[in-house]
Amino acid sequence: MARRSLLSLVLVGLATVLAVPLDDAEPAHDVDTNSTVLAKSLALPAPLCFPSLGFAMPDKLPADNTEWWCDPATEYAFLGFSYKITDCQSLEQLNTDFRNIRQKFNSRYIRLYGFCDNEGYYDDVVSAAWDNALGVHALIWFGFNGDLVWVPRRDALLASLHANPKAKFVTRVLQFGSEPLFDNAIAHDTLAEQVVLAQANLSSLHIPVTVSELATGYQERGGGQDVLDVIDSINIHMLPFFSPNATTSDKAWPLVLEDLDWFIEHGNGKKMYFDENGWPSIIWSGVEPNSPDAVADVPNEQGYYALLEENCEFLKDVVGGGIGWFAHIYTDEMEPGYGIYDDEGNMKFPFAPRTHC
Ligand SMILES: *[C@@H]1O[C@H](CO)[C@@H](O)[C@H](O)[C@H]1NC(C)=O
Ligand SMILES: *[C@@H]1O[C@H](CO)[C@@H](O)[C@H](O)[C@H]1NC(C)=O
Ligand SMILES: *[C@@H]1O[C@H](CO)[C@@H](O)[C@H](O)[C@H]1NC(C)=O
Repeated sequence: MARRSLLSLVLVGLATVLAVPLDDAEPAHDVDTNSTVLAKSLALPAPLCFPSLGFAMPDKLPADNTEWWCDPATEYAFLGFSYKITDCQSLEQLNTDFRNIRQKFNSRYIRLYGFCDNEGYYDDVVSAAWDNALGVHALIWFGFNGDLVWVPRRDALLASLHANPKAKFVTRVLQFGSEPLFDNAIAHDTLAEQVVLAQANLSSLHIPVTVSELATGYQERGGGQDVLDVIDSINIHMLPFFSPNATTSDKAWPLVLEDLDWFIEHGNGKKMYFDENGWPSIIWSGVEPNSPDAVADVPNEQGYYALLEENCEFLKDVVGGGIGWFAHIYTDEMEPGYGIYDDEGNMKFPFAPRTHC
């Protein structure tokens, strides 16, 4: 492992104090770093696998989740939405949104964004996901202050995954995020250790673990190869609007490829997702572009998704089983300018991306 910064030493020390159960866990000797759970061998074909379109949810929970998930190689093209839970939406609201996400858009997944620290909140997410046949990319939210708020969030989520019998049937992957490396919220070697500890904690549930991060986030931490080596899938933030070369979204393909090629080169053939992925319709404080020529408006937001549609076959053929992508984000209420819906609940543009090609 690479150099350990003073910050990471402090973080490790504090994390040990605050997180005795996890850090006392068995070492990860039984974790298959080539991710059995994401592997193809046990997958039934659609519509017999969760969460394929047309899958009929069983009345009773299956014995386990080893013949449950779809083959990752079928999980390319449009998968669903980033969905921010910082408003602590009610179970009723989650059900309404998840039903729309599944039925109107043919989504298979949601990717959580933000945090809700209400006790038991993830049980509501699991309940709504199960009732609407959606898989979940769960998230341990770090925030932006470089503090340790993520430690109790990690413990609460891990505990919930063990305690709720439905959780392992809807939780496709646990993510450390969002952008903990880019935000310098944790040192890369400490993050790699945390991923391995979480894999050990979740190994009996067959839930894989990843990090939700930009290419730049890895690159500015010396490449973060220790992290890339241990994560089970690569959950990429693809936000070409922030490239120094950004102009309009119809010209963004070389920028997408620049980051994607970097992950292909360093990702060891692992399954990849664009899990935070989009182009904003407005510029606002805190999310200014790095290029003076970057254009933020609704046609460019729409145009970015059109670009992914045009390249569906290319993305399907990417190593690891093709790129599955999420639209960031469900509504402008969750992040200004990124929504498919505006603040009033109107769709900003027609959106019906393909789920296969
Ligand atoms: C895991 O993958 C690596 C590189 O792709 C390979 O060398 C190794 O044999 C694999 N291990 C297992 C247990 O399949
Ligand atoms: C996993 O971590 C949680 C939270 O720290 C803990 O309560 C639980 O006992 C751990 N389980 C295993 C199997 O390590
Ligand atoms: C971005 O712009 C720089 C400077 O003009 C150029 O060297 C580089 O190739 C561009 N990158 C892409 C991906 O277009």
